Amino acid sequence: MRQSSLVVVANRLPLDDNAAPDGACEWRRSPGGLAGALHAILEQTPATWVGWNGGAGPAPDLPDVGPMRLRAVPISVDELSGYYEGFANSTLWPLYHDAVEQPVFDRGWWETYRSVNRRFAEAAAEVAEPGAAVWVQDYHLHLVPEMLRQLRPDLLIGFFLHVPFPPPELFMQLPRRVELLRGMLGADLVGFQRPQAAHNVAQLATKLLGAQATDDEIHLDGRVVRTGAFPVSIDVAEMQALAARPDVVTRARQLRADLGPPKRVLLSVDRLDYTKGIEHRLTAYSELLRDGRVRVRNTVMVQVTVPSREQIGRYRQLRHRIEGEVGRINGEHGRVGEPAVHYLNQPFDRAELAALYQTADVMVVTPLRDGMNLVAKEFVAAREDDAGALVLSEFAGAAAELPGAFLVNPHDVDRLKDTLLEAMDADPADLAARMAAMRRHLRTHDIVGWARAYLTTLDHTGRLAAWLPPVPGPRRARHQPV
Ligand code: G6P
Repeated sequence: MRQSSLVVVANRLPLDDNAAPDGACEWRRSPGGLAGALHAILEQTPATWVGWNGGAGPAPDLPDVGPMRLRAVPISVDELSGYYEGFANSTLWPLYHDAVEQPVFDRGWWETYRSVNRRFAEAAAEVAEPGAAVWVQDYHLHLVPEMLRQLRPDLLIGFFLHVPFPPPELFMQLPRRVELLRGMLGADLVGFQRPQAAHNVAQLATKLLGAQATDDEIHLDGRVVRTGAFPVSIDVAEMQALAARPDVVTRARQLRADLGPPKRVLLSVDRLDYTKGIEHRLTAYSELLRDGRVRVRNTVMVQVTVPSREQIGRYRQLRHRIEGEVGRINGEHGRVGEPAVHYLNQPFDRAELAALYQTADVMVVTPLRDGMNLVAKEFVAAREDDAGALVLSEFAGAAAELPGAFLVNPHDVDRLKDTLLEAMDADPADLAARMAAMRRHLRTHDIVGWARAYLTTLDHTGRLAAWLPPVPGPRRARHQPV
């Protein structure tokens, strides 16, 4: 068994389960910000990534990707239903996103969640060399840090939560709240997107576990668990390079022409998820059309959704509702050859996405709750021309870092409508100043900076961070992460 001194454990591996016809491993980025962010830094690092390859049944042997090794964890169809579709995505996901959909508390799911977490912990224990660092990711794997510590007390263990950690009053609803909290606090360092999350965890550790806790440190069972905020970011250099590619620039012009100039283009790109506020956004746009405040002649909306978690009924129902609403808006407001909403429900190639970002006059990113939202950051990085406006939800983690955006509460549809108009009509000089300031911020806060900050805090020595690339390297074309 080959072992590594850095092991990353995440529910998903960074690739889907389609090998190329010649058997080679074809890189296609898995959906979601997590896979994209980690992939950008790890493919040049001699680390092992432990995760699920997206299929059911026995785990395939996967080839190395450069210096990075992949270790697949097998998950059966039944386990996927209790662990992934059930406890992770029907209990924790909605609860952690402000319960914008009712979390389901199904007692049957817990045992499966626990046993799959144990399998991930065992796989990590096998591939970690003595004294290695293991970095566990996200809400699917809350129990892994404590399990791993029991199996391998020699390891340095980190945990990072990519989604929001909810306020105590919501977390308290969880039937397995004590086990989850203890599981996560098995780590040496627990990282979040926002400082508020560390505050929430400190309050809960005090209340539920009798720990002594501040927003930076939790004293539990004779150990000290450090906590803190490490806002995740994007591979800024990759997006800038893509956006500057001549074929992408040509494609952007073509897209713009296809949309029918001189229309103003509103663009949204989301995983098809109820946390993303897609329905609120469609309502706002449809009312603007109804009220005559915008006209299809000069304004068009492009809504890209990337299919997601389609085995879960709520996600299928949401898709159904969105498609009904898009059909209604186009039926009422479109004209022959001029739909009001261009709706694309498909995975997106990153070059096409970079082109689309360049066609947008207003990028509309209005989740009801989001840990970070990397689409907002990608849009900013793609706009070397400093043109375009970003309308951004106050409830996305990215809002704290991108004050040049037009911030909005997406639940307030009237205000959302006004904000869309304000962004559409903004003075180009004002927009350029906003975009330039946000791009400056991103240049010094990219994905490598995130990993470096986290790993240096984890090991204190800089030894782990020394493996990171100075800037993330060039990669093959992949499918769109959201
Ligand atoms: C979010 C989560 C990730 C997840 C991604 C895609 O970004 O934080 O952990 O991988 O969504 O969701 P999926 O269920 O397809 O992995």
